Amino acid sequence: MPNFWKKLDKPILVLAPMAGYTNSAFRQICRVYGADVVYSEMASATALNFEGKKTLKLLKFNKSESPYVVQLFGNDPKYFCNAAKFVNKKIKPDGIDINMGCPAKKVFSNGSGAALMKDVDKAREIIKETLKGTDLPISIKIRAKVGNVTAYKFIKKLNDLPISAIMIHGRSLGQGFAGEINYNQIKKVKTIATIPILANGGINTPEDAAKMLERTKADGVGIARGALMKPWLFSQTKEFFKKGEYKKFKLGEIKKAAIKHAKMSYRSKGKHGIVEMRKYLLWYFRGFEGAREIRKELVRVESVGDIEKVLKDML
Ligand SMILES: Cc1cc2nc3c(=O)[nH]c(=O)nc-3n(C[C@H](O)[C@H](O)[C@H](O)COP(=O)(O)O)c2cc1C
Repeated sequence: MPNFWKKLDKPILVLAPMAGYTNSAFRQICRVYGADVVYSEMASATALNFEGKKTLKLLKFNKSESPYVVQLFGNDPKYFCNAAKFVNKKIKPDGIDINMGCPAKKVFSNGSGAALMKDVDKAREIIKETLKGTDLPISIKIRAKVGNVTAYKFIKKLNDLPISAIMIHGRSLGQGFAGEINYNQIKKVKTIATIPILANGGINTPEDAAKMLERTKADGVGIARGALMKPWLFSQTKEFFKKGEYKKFKLGEIKKAAIKHAKMSYRSKGKHGIVEMRKYLLWYFRGFEGAREIRKELVRVESVGDIEKVLKDML
């Protein structure tokens, strides 16, 4: 299986995984606006080991999303081989990622997600089992620090494994999702890595992406919440890197993007896709004048036509 990570131009701009958000339609709109790689929502390796239909459905994708990476989470190495085999056969993504950074209580407390950084032996077993199940490139997503385990310490112990890429959320477990980015820790990992290192955390503008790359020397960036507000952040960032400036989106363009996304969501999931679309619309139209009133209407839309009408009325 060719390793797509090796073929990408740098810097690589990646849509980072977000449970509840990085579904097929959202990944499609991010690809349209320049994301080089998109990640699924995290999916349970245990559920996939038992061929869970609901989990499988969560991972379905459209060819236009490729390169598409499926992210797995779990705490038991023995399930990862079958889960990878099953994903490979039924979904056929371009890569598989393993979540080693999630702080959510229900994930962390049973030894999955960020807890794996405290148990490097188990993390190693999980990676090895996943590699056994598939010849797809395997990546991992970690944090800058969990307890006294730094990203550098952790990766040093796993560096002999054939991992294809590492995304580092530059915050510690204790920081959760806010606060300063530990650029230095990402930079340290980069000094010992021969594979793409993707720096993640707090990138909401092209300038943030440039600062992240400059300070960490990473090969690319992972963008999560910034893309929820602006899926076009990827193309703006590319424009900024090329020309040193970028075009800001005006309200009309934001409306067009939201409608394009809504149509993708409808095609992907029918009426339920429009219900799901409501939460994205709230992200798109944050902070605009009269946004409070508009938001009340946006959370009630039931069709693309409804969305078009509400947005048309918006000044
Ligand atoms: C709503 C939400 C869901 C997330 N779900 C996942 C997930 O499923 N897997 C994962 O590795 N990280 C997940 N993350 C973490 C993000 O991928 C990212 O590391 C974090 O949000 C920092 O990036 P940002 O500052 O660009 O948002 C999630 C974050 C948010 C806000």
